Amino acid sequence: MAAKIIDGKAFAAKIRGEVATHVARLKEEHGLTPGLAVVLVGEDPASQVYVRSKGKQTVEVGMNSVEHKLEPDTSEADLLSLIERLNADPAIHGILVQLPLPDHLDSDLVINAIDPAKDVDGFHISNVGLLGTGQKSMVPCTPLGCLMMLREEHGSLSGLDAVVVGRSNIVGKPMAQLLLGDSCTVTIAHSRTKDLPEVVRRADIVVAAVGRPEMVPGDWIKPGATVIDVGINRIEGEGGKTRLVGDCHYESCAAVAGAITPVPGGVGPMTIACLLANTVTACCRANG
Ligand code: GUN
Repeated sequence: MAAKIIDGKAFAAKIRGEVATHVARLKEEHGLTPGLAVVLVGEDPASQVYVRSKGKQTVEVGMNSVEHKLEPDTSEADLLSLIERLNADPAIHGILVQLPLPDHLDSDLVINAIDPAKDVDGFHISNVGLLGTGQKSMVPCTPLGCLMMLREEHGSLSGLDAVVVGRSNIVGKPMAQLLLGDSCTVTIAHSRTKDLPEVVRRADIVVAAVGRPEMVPGDWIKPGATVIDVGINRIEGEGGKTRLVGDCHYESCAAVAGAITPVPGGVGPMTIACLLANTVTACCRANG
């Protein structure tokens, strides 16, 4: 039987609707408007697309959006002083520095300069530690979106075998923490994992986040498993046209899985919806 297609686009629209309602209430009842600052250094085309999309959706749900576009050769001192100003600005509740940063900038240093309470990406070392110890934190947006889709699909995740393919700080590691928090048995697989196909075949839940186009074929998937594809890879298709594909080979995985996220229209829209939700959360926490 063909897999159920998990509609991330529709789910994200529902979350944005809830965020918009919450924002309207904050305005009416408390005179508060959540504000999100996005910092982009350089001219990476993919990053520019993401940042534009974040700004547009922030405004659509009624929040304030501030974009800081900095030259590619911006010094670390200038970037850190901008972050300091945003940290001190009471109208800004969320700060996001778009990654990757140019090579001359130390990402860890920059991310850890953000006030953890405004770190809507959940990348600050304090938030990473809080998440890892099961305490209230800012949760990284992409893994949070994946978790919401999995909970919607399964109800309880307790006791399920989950394999996360990829060990990035942005997705793989926080995803594993969230699944552990929901009582899954979690394996993090990566490029050095021995017999990766066998490891993936054990999983009731597969989260693929490696950034390698169509790396996971259908014959690695346990029949009925849920496949969450975080990859967004642009490849050359027929006639020299580019097309977007995930880290999973969609057709073969969909033939075996119980449920699967498409690319595009799966995880991608959920990431920004969760960013908006995190910004509202940060605003509420900042104002008691
Ligand atoms: N680059 C790719 N994904 C992300 C993300 O979730 N947050 C930030 N800040 N940069 C990214």
